[in-house]
Amino acid sequence: MRRIGVPMTLERPRRQPVSPMIDETIIKDLVHGFYARVRDDAQLGPIFNRVIDDWDEHLAKMCDFWSSVMLLTGRYKGNPMIAHMRLKMVRPEHFERWLTLFRATANDLCDPHAAALFVGKAENIARSLQLGMFYRSGASPGAQNPGQHPAESQQSQQPEGERS
Ligand code: HEM
Repeated sequence: MRRIGVPMTLERPRRQPVSPMIDETIIKDLVHGFYARVRDDAQLGPIFNRVIDDWDEHLAKMCDFWSSVMLLTGRYKGNPMIAHMRLKMVRPEHFERWLTLFRATANDLCDPHAAALFVGKAENIARSLQLGMFYRSGASPGAQNPGQHPAESQQSQQPEGERS
């Protein structure tokens, strides 16, 4: 008997790269363009410049990250949640600024369709990072970061109200 609406094969669809329009060249241009703006930004620049010693290494890592997200190359092997939870100075408003700069860079450097795909992924990842960093049950925002990035340890010796 033929059942309506039931597919004959139940193979799981293979995960596909997000779009054939996106390649490593676009990713490199976007990553380098974005972090050039971040480093110059009054709000975000000091956070990144305090923690990152080797910008070439960070940019290569971020190209690997976006290559894994958009092209499914699997080149990125890290754990963004743990890396961000160590950044005690980061607050929700920094995410707003990060996304504003990311949207502007993507719209300037990519065609509109590719820009929308990058921004959509970034928004989703930013949301999940913020849920982990600020909104754990029973914790007050920003108060539960385990450990701390070594570059911030000097700052942690200041009284709470004086931290940035
Ligand atoms: C407030 C917004 C953000 C700030 C201030 C921030 C800051 C940083 C800093 C300082 C690092 C270097 C950490 C280290 O070397 O120890 C880092 C790493 C990283 N960030 Fe962000 N970030 C932000 C948002 C995001 C978002 C939205 C994404 C993804 C779309 C992202 C993806 C990553 C990744 C993949 C790494 C590398 C983690 C690793 O070491 O493997 N970040 N971020």
